[in-house]
Amino acid sequence: MIIGTIKESRSGENRVALSPDVVKNFVRLGFECIIEAGAGVLSNFSDEAYKLAGAVVVSSVAEVCGKTDVLVKVNAPSDSEIALLKPGSALVSFIYHLTNPALIEQLSARQISVFSMDAIPRISRAQSMDALSSQANLAGYKAVLLGAHHSARIFPMLMTAAGTITPAKVLIFGAGVAGLQAIGTARRLGAVVEVTDIRPETKEQVESLGGKFISFDTGEVKIEGGYVKETGEDTLRKQREILGKHIAAADVVITTALIPGKKAPILVTEDMVKTMKLGSVIVDMAVEQGGNCEISEAGKVVVKHGVKIVGETNLPSLLAQNASESYSKNIYAFLTHLATKDGFKWEMEEEITKGTLITKDGRRTA
Ligand code: NAI
Repeated sequence: MIIGTIKESRSGENRVALSPDVVKNFVRLGFECIIEAGAGVLSNFSDEAYKLAGAVVVSSVAEVCGKTDVLVKVNAPSDSEIALLKPGSALVSFIYHLTNPALIEQLSARQISVFSMDAIPRISRAQSMDALSSQANLAGYKAVLLGAHHSARIFPMLMTAAGTITPAKVLIFGAGVAGLQAIGTARRLGAVVEVTDIRPETKEQVESLGGKFISFDTGEVKIEGGYVKETGEDTLRKQREILGKHIAAADVVITTALIPGKKAPILVTEDMVKTMKLGSVIVDMAVEQGGNCEISEAGKVVVKHGVKIVGETNLPSLLAQNASESYSKNIYAFLTHLATKDGFKWEMEEEITKGTLITKDGRRTA
């Protein structure tokens, strides 16, 4: 089985789907790997490192796509890349099929079997393949650093001859993968950290990381597969009431609240931003899903009502080396679960296959 990867074409993307270390492991198992020259350079992986790991490095995307049985990518392929895919081959990548029906149609027309990395079920058995989590973990760390960077305050308490500087107050919405990493990072920098989540069971985890949990009556929250499925407007309204004074007191607010497949819930309205202190910062991690802050803008840092609002849409790419290493390990765990060097197993009733296979030879399976 030939596994290939190409340089990511999404603007601002520094990650790559295969690291030299993972290539070495695939080659050891009898797989062949083919890499486009320069594919890993923005993640600090040289062509030489891939060659040493046993990959064949070629100069064109067409050559990689024409030869591979499975193309692995970070982002979904572009139109021109789709046109180069070998009919009957497989694609493994973040796809977000629920929000990208046109993309699935295009891939179906080329008889591609599509596996979506964002659809890995959140079960213990699949933890090593869980790319959303590996990337969100790094993103949570980077969100705090960006918050600190854009703030005119330091995070830790400082006692100096010139007086005492009080620690910064960081407020984090959502104690999932990104949120928990953000708590740990902000605490390590010395901030006082407050956290809220709609799942009350996260309180213990928050406290174990040194955060203060802000509880509110969450009413009925539907949870499915480890994710919140739905939040009523009533719950969100109650949450805004309770959180209002915490937002007004915060120096940095980081929002990570996610409802998969849906628009992100609005947790910080424009009116709430108006109550914030001059120079405070919001890092809206959910900006690509519409934003947890009503007035954040995707891909931009904007100043509104004296508050800096950071809408970075690709935080993992800012930590490309570690993000690519982790993603690549997720790909390895996933592909070695699905296939051997002789090809895919196609265990159609198996939970991970069932959850991630979107089309088989162009036919919809999900
Ligand atoms: P997760 O599912 O692990 O965590 C989300 C958390 O939000 C859950 O604990 C959930 O209970 C909580 N939540 C839902 N509604 C809430 C509400 N109304 N109030 C408070 N908490 C609420 O998700 P993960 O992996 O931590 O990702 C978080 C967000 O970060 C997602 O929106 C994801 O798309 C985004 N993300 C953004 C990146 C970027 O570059 N901007 C990179 C990686 C992730």
